[in-house]
Amino acid sequence: MPQTGNIIDGKGMAAQIRSELKATVQTLSHQGTMPGLAVVLVGEDPASQLYVRGKIRACEEVGIYSEQIYLTSDVLEEEVLAVIDRLNDDQKIHGILVQLPLPVQIDPDRIIERIDPAKDVDGFHPQNMGRLVIGQHGFLPCTPHGIMEMLKRSDISITGKHVVVVGRSNIVGKPISFLLQREHATVTMCHSRTRELAHYTKQADILIAAAGKAHLLGRDHISPNTVVIDVGMNRLQGRKVVGDVDFEAVRELASHITPVPGGVGPMTIAMLLYNTVEAAKQRCKE
Ligand code: GUN
Repeated sequence: MPQTGNIIDGKGMAAQIRSELKATVQTLSHQGTMPGLAVVLVGEDPASQLYVRGKIRACEEVGIYSEQIYLTSDVLEEEVLAVIDRLNDDQKIHGILVQLPLPVQIDPDRIIERIDPAKDVDGFHPQNMGRLVIGQHGFLPCTPHGIMEMLKRSDISITGKHVVVVGRSNIVGKPISFLLQREHATVTMCHSRTRELAHYTKQADILIAAAGKAHLLGRDHISPNTVVIDVGMNRLQGRKVVGDVDFEAVRELASHITPVPGGVGPMTIAMLLYNTVEAAKQRCKE
C-alpha cells in the first residue's frame, strides 16, 4: 500500500548533514585549514536578519569561522563592491554570501559578478550558474542542492519522473530544473502567467512549489501519491510562516511532503555550510 502523509524531516536531515560536516571541519582544521564564511547583510530587513543569524549559528555549530559585515541601507554600491574586493583577497575567507534582496540603489548582478567564483558559495555567479546549465562541476545554489539531497536521502528516485516546478526564479526554479534534468527527470516549468496551473501540477510525480505565494497550491492542484516539496516561506500578517502549499489540505494526499518551517529551509543552510567546506577543500588542493 502506498504511503500517505509521509513528512520529510528537513530539520532532522539538516542536523545529520551538519554533524557529518563537523567531522570534516575537524579533519581540515587538524590539517591547518579552518573553513571561513563571510556573510554580508545590507539594511535592516527583519527576515534577512533572521536568516543571517541562522547561517552564523549553523557555522558556529559546525566549527566554521564566520564574519558578519553589516552595512546600512543607504550604503553606496561602490562601498559594497569594495567590501567584496577585500573579502576576495582575505585568506581566512573561503566563502562569501551577500544576503538578498539588496536596497534599490544596488544592482545585485554587479555585486554577484564581483564575487570570486571560487568563493561563490551561494552558486549565484554567472560562471557557476553556467557550469550548472552545461553540466560542469561548480558550486550549486543551496536551496536546489538541498532539495536534491532531501530527495536522495528519502530514497525518492528521479530518473524518468515528471517533475513540475512552480516558479522560475534564479535562486530556485531555474537551477532546480537543470539539476533535475541532470538526474534524468522530465521537467515542466510553471510560473505566475501559467494558465490552468492545476492542469500541469496534477500531472506531477514530484511537485516543487517555489512561487513565493502563500497557499497557492491546495487539494485541487495535487494528485494522490505526489511527492510535494514546498520551498515557500511566506509570512502571514499574524507573523506565522507558511509555505506555497496548503499543508493540512494536501498532507494525506501526498506520498511525501515537506513541512514549513522545518523542511527545505534548514537544508538550504546545511548546503551553504557544505559549499563553504568544499571551497576550503578546493583551496587546500591548490
Ligand atoms: N535570500 C533568499 N534566499 C537567499 C539565498 O539562498 N542566498 C542569499 N544570498 N540570499 C537569499
